[in-house]
Amino acid sequence: MNPITHAQLDWDEQGRPHSRVFDDVYFSDKSGLEETRYVFLEQNRLQARFAALPAGGRLVIGETGFGTGLNFLCAWQLFDQHAVAGARLHFVSVEKYPLSHADLQRALTLWPELAPFAEQLLAQYIAIHQGFQRLVLDNGRVTLTLLIGDALEQLTQLDAQIDAWFLDGFAPAKNPDMWTAELFAELARLAAPGSTISTFTSTGWVRRLINAAGFKMKRTPGIGHKWEILRGEFLGWPADTCAPPAAKPWFARPPAIEGERHAMVIGGGLAGCTTAASLAARGWQVSLLERHTGLAQEASGNPQGVLYLKLSAHGTALSQLIVAGFGHTRRLLEHLHRGVDWDGCGVLQLAFNAKEAERQAQLADAFAPDLLHLLDRDQAQTRAGVALEQGGLFFPEGGWVHPPALCEWQASQPGITVLAHHDVLDLRNLDGQWQAWDGERLLASAPVVVLAGAADIQRFTDLPLKRIRGQITRLVQTPQSQALATVVCAEGYVAPARLGEHTLGASFDFKNHDLTPTPAEHAGNLAMLREISTDLAHRLGADALAPEQLEGRAAFRCTSPDYLPIVGPLAERIAFDQAYAALRKDARQTPDVACPWLDGLYINSGHGSRGLITAPLCAELLAAWLHNEPLPVPASVADACHPNRFAVRALIRGTGSSQ
Ligand SMILES: Cc1cc2nc3c(=O)[nH]c(=O)nc-3n(C[C@H](O)[C@H](O)[C@H](O)COP(=O)(O)OP(=O)(O)OC[C@H]3O[C@@H](n4cnc5c(N)ncnc54)[C@H](O)[C@@H]3O)c2cc1C
Ligand SMILES: C[S@@+](CC[C@H](N)C(=O)[O-])C[C@H]1O[C@@H](n2cnc3c(N)ncnc32)[C@H](O)[C@@H]1O
Repeated sequence: MNPITHAQLDWDEQGRPHSRVFDDVYFSDKSGLEETRYVFLEQNRLQARFAALPAGGRLVIGETGFGTGLNFLCAWQLFDQHAVAGARLHFVSVEKYPLSHADLQRALTLWPELAPFAEQLLAQYIAIHQGFQRLVLDNGRVTLTLLIGDALEQLTQLDAQIDAWFLDGFAPAKNPDMWTAELFAELARLAAPGSTISTFTSTGWVRRLINAAGFKMKRTPGIGHKWEILRGEFLGWPADTCAPPAAKPWFARPPAIEGERHAMVIGGGLAGCTTAASLAARGWQVSLLERHTGLAQEASGNPQGVLYLKLSAHGTALSQLIVAGFGHTRRLLEHLHRGVDWDGCGVLQLAFNAKEAERQAQLADAFAPDLLHLLDRDQAQTRAGVALEQGGLFFPEGGWVHPPALCEWQASQPGITVLAHHDVLDLRNLDGQWQAWDGERLLASAPVVVLAGAADIQRFTDLPLKRIRGQITRLVQTPQSQALATVVCAEGYVAPARLGEHTLGASFDFKNHDLTPTPAEHAGNLAMLREISTDLAHRLGADALAPEQLEGRAAFRCTSPDYLPIVGPLAERIAFDQAYAALRKDARQTPDVACPWLDGLYINSGHGSRGLITAPLCAELLAAWLHNEPLPVPASVADACHPNRFAVRALIRGTGSSQ
């Protein structure tokens, strides 16, 4: 895995960027704006298509080569001018060499009329790393999914239906590696029925290759120094070529829910609140049911949680989800109050033994330095502001979060009704409506229900989830501990103070099911503090602290057997086992049988020790499932998180058990 690098640019005397790698311009010398509007917006008839969108409708644009985002901003401006309130724009763009924030800012100053849109983009153009990156703009009316990496590699991982393609990406003569039959086959695979396409080039071999993929391209007069350009539409997959393999039926999209857009979300922690917000941003009415008197009273109730990225250098599904989720959460936090609700003070993971040091060295080779880089001991001490025994891996964009603030903000979005003191004991399905019951009392009903109650979703499903108790310790800040400038982690973690208190965490206990904080675990947390830094322990007066007198709280993490979250629609288990019984005999079979979904029932759970990073993006994934939208993660990651994976594995192993 090679880390992504930023675009290397030169700037001409008029302030226009030029790519060093491709030796080509990002936009036309004459007028980039006019060219974009003519080549991409007009040829795809976007003004009329935006104007025709109903409230609740949306258009999905796909692009090769995000560059300076000029095409995106022009499309957004046009959408803003012509689409009705309640319509949405979804823009998916792939980019191999993303501009740095400073370069993007510099390039976009060229277009003052786009400033209202450019400012919003720049405010969210943060933590853009390799793979899928979701940006939620204009209060959710506009969604940008950036795929950072090579166009072909990334698009093969995309699960989407594109209504209009912008084929950009430097001139074919300067960038022949991108303009290939394989890439055009991907554009065809992703094209929605009636999809349109346009490009600034009229090169003959490009036109022939796009036609061969199933589009019908026409030459049309160009603009400026471009004599001709191409526009076209998707006719269908060519008869003489094998169709791309369909998704496995158990991971395919369930039929879209028609009619009333009303969902019940059960569980008022990070998973439930973010799910409610993602649905509300798409115009849903959401009833958010929580058994306690308020939100975020269980795992999501700690005073500080850490944006801790436990990555793999081998690009596993979990590692991809973590990079994508981290970026999304980090961008959401920009809406909250820095210093009280969160702080981007960075996270330092200490190389506390030789194995960890080796793992960190591999990660430093696999990821770009703006995501993570190694610090030697001196550099680490300077960063942390306290004496340390080792250096480690530093995540400059990481930090701590007050999870209840994130929950409260998400649940306060228009369209969400919080129903506290609503303990759902029983779920029933009657005439296409899910009903939530508390004994004899009907609490709420809706055509869609999302189970976001951590391990307690086992009241309603047989999904394999484990509870792991954890306890944090609250330590009063001292004049000496104020020096701590970044989160520092070894086996445990300690954060710079929030409102005069540091959070020190966290114990792991697989057996204890009682949530009363114990002195033994406070003592264990203090031992982890000394391992992090004896200097910091000293500054906090740890030797004089009696564990019996320390304050803290305990809660359950909720973990699946493969440590991935469980997100998406769920099938009815008995019917599922019958439908796919053939897998018992041969795991390679894909029976052509539609999945027997539990219509309207969805899951968002299993966030383990990293819910701050995974829950908000999984909420977007869930909304994408429900709305038939582009998924915010690679298809393989969505499959790896799919609730049906346990039933498939059990069939293949020939056991009845979900584990
Ligand atoms: C000690 C500790 C430290 C942690 N540190 C970090 C960290 O540093 N960084 C990080 O990213 N993550 C951390 N985590 C993990 C993180 O807190 C969780 O992953 C996240 O909070 C899970 O959110 P959730 O919404 O799935 O679960 P919860 O926050 O537990 O929310 C589930 C909610 O559902 C409600 N509910 C359940 N069943 C029902 C029902 N039938 N009816 C009504 N309501 C119901 C519950 O009352 C609860 O409010 C930590 C966890 C613990 C315990
Ligand atoms: C002409 S610029 C795009 C201009 C852009 N659409 C805009 O609005 O500013 C071409 C872009 O394609 C990107 N690119 C080139 N080859 C690529 C590839 N194989 N995969 C992904 N992106 C690529 C370049 O890095 C560059 O940003």
